[in-house]
Amino acid sequence: MCGLVGYIGDREATPILLNGLKRLEYRGYDSAGIAVLQNGNIDVLKRAGKVNDLETLSALHPFASTVGIGHTRWATHGEPNDQNAHPHVDHTGTIALIHNGIIENYSAIRRRLERDGIEFKTDTDTESLVQLISTFYDITGNLEQSVRLALKEVDGTYGIAVISSREPGKLIAARMGSPLVLGINDGEYFVASDASAIVHHTRQVIFLEDGNIATLTRDGYEVKTIGDEAVEHKIEQITFDIEQIEKGGYDHFMLKEIHEQPQTIMDSMRGRILKDKGTAKLGGLRDVVSALEGARRIIITACGTSWHAGLVGEYMLEQYARIPVEVEYASEFRYRSPVLTENDVVIAISQSGETADTLAAIREAKLRGATVLGICNVVGSSIARETHAGVYTHAGPEIGVASTKAFTSQLVVLSLLTLMLGRTRGFISLDEGRKFADELLSIPDKVREILEKADEIRELARQIHTANNALYLGRGYNFPTALEGALKLKEISYIHAEGYPAAEMKHGPIALIDENMPVVVIAPQDRIHEKVISNIQEVRARKGKVIAIVNRDDSTIEELAQFVIEVPTTVDFLSPLLTIIPLQLLAYSIAVFRDCNVDQPRNLAKSVTVE
Ligand code: M6R
Repeated sequence: MCGLVGYIGDREATPILLNGLKRLEYRGYDSAGIAVLQNGNIDVLKRAGKVNDLETLSALHPFASTVGIGHTRWATHGEPNDQNAHPHVDHTGTIALIHNGIIENYSAIRRRLERDGIEFKTDTDTESLVQLISTFYDITGNLEQSVRLALKEVDGTYGIAVISSREPGKLIAARMGSPLVLGINDGEYFVASDASAIVHHTRQVIFLEDGNIATLTRDGYEVKTIGDEAVEHKIEQITFDIEQIEKGGYDHFMLKEIHEQPQTIMDSMRGRILKDKGTAKLGGLRDVVSALEGARRIIITACGTSWHAGLVGEYMLEQYARIPVEVEYASEFRYRSPVLTENDVVIAISQSGETADTLAAIREAKLRGATVLGICNVVGSSIARETHAGVYTHAGPEIGVASTKAFTSQLVVLSLLTLMLGRTRGFISLDEGRKFADELLSIPDKVREILEKADEIRELARQIHTANNALYLGRGYNFPTALEGALKLKEISYIHAEGYPAAEMKHGPIALIDENMPVVVIAPQDRIHEKVISNIQEVRARKGKVIAIVNRDDSTIEELAQFVIEVPTTVDFLSPLLTIIPLQLLAYSIAVFRDCNVDQPRNLAKSVTVE
């Protein structure tokens, strides 16, 4: 996730910015940069790599400045290279800007400005914003007003900080959907994406609200709305320590990432849903649309959680796009001499984009002539570079080893792909497509509702955390959810857990069921609901403890299960986006009760770059 910091005061800005950026490193990033005002000019240093590299560079180019901005970038639009790193400077070299978030309508803005003769230097969405501010600045000569006018034309999310060489005593900051905090000290002011970047200078802060714009000078600060109205703001005293700030106030990164999902799910679909047309647009697949539409077969390859997302994708794509799909563990695919033709499309799914087995599977598929696509979270990763085309999931960096928000963002991308192909291949009608688009857009709120049950789920965890084994059962779209729920539990709590298709239980695992076995059954009201009820009866008959994930008012299951967690209803193929949330929370709380190292479970690595 990008990080930003800004300073205006009497002290040397560069060390303050570099130290602030170091404190933001925990958020994950791929490049870093600073811009300062010096002798009437904007001076920028930026490069791909670590803040330490930037610091080495800055030692060679010492600045004397008391106002500046700094950024750590986690690439979303454009490769993580020197050019695309922030700050971005407008074509006149007057304004420098740093940005967290995504400008959704950046390509329309860019096309318009390019038609007016403005030359762009980067592939980023952010550059459109600084160039747009610049066009208003030409007319108004007032930075704050120009930022405000530009922001009125922007769709998407932002936390920004802007400086101009024509107004060297000013720093402008604005927020919409990306957190921003102002720091207040005697004669000096700060802005940051989170308080960890500034807390060693001041504990007096103002948390900006969405739609706020702040102007900082050495003499004070002013907070208004983007519509130029005064706003009430409160100065707060930060009492928590840096570690707490980094984790957003949560005890672990995993919990923070679980709670980020309403936002990350929205980010994965942002700008990709065409509601009126009842379809989706995936820019990264533009050049391979005909290969996809005409594919004889799709093979999804991945590992771990990403493989589970692939299984959900198989159900979706076969049901709604009517293309045969196979899902393969990348580690098997690469060695089993697969039969592939140029009419096959291989989709590799990976959070990190660096998993060795998935990378090897891609190379194998390319050698055999298939079109190879990637669904990755990390921009510019090896898998993103080696595939013919692909889609980024935009979940932001995932720090907890157990994958949570990356999984749901992969499901969103697969849903969008299904919607797009289902529509173009004629298997989803316009009305149905519109309904699916609406449903997708409602998922973040529904996830929010489930997250409110965290206490209830913690109580369940308290009751079952001493179990030695657990069984997870689901059918249809929720069979992969069962696998993922079991994986979450085993990897962070070290309880042996198995996921099974519910009906398969009677072919073996039923022998394990006794009064000590928690059995988690995922049972939303879908077309196989009745069948799942029969499976629950089978568990009850053997005294298994049934924990059921159900839709509201499911009295039949409520009578059968010892513990019920309700999730809102949705259309069948989006169901795993909701049902997985309580399972993530359950695994998390059980691991905490067992005193396990949640974020760094034993023997596991975040990115498995070896075979
Ligand atoms: O980065 P990738 O998605 O390619 O990683 C694949 C697996 O290693 C990963 O999903 C792993 O299973 C996680 N620890 C699951 O929580």
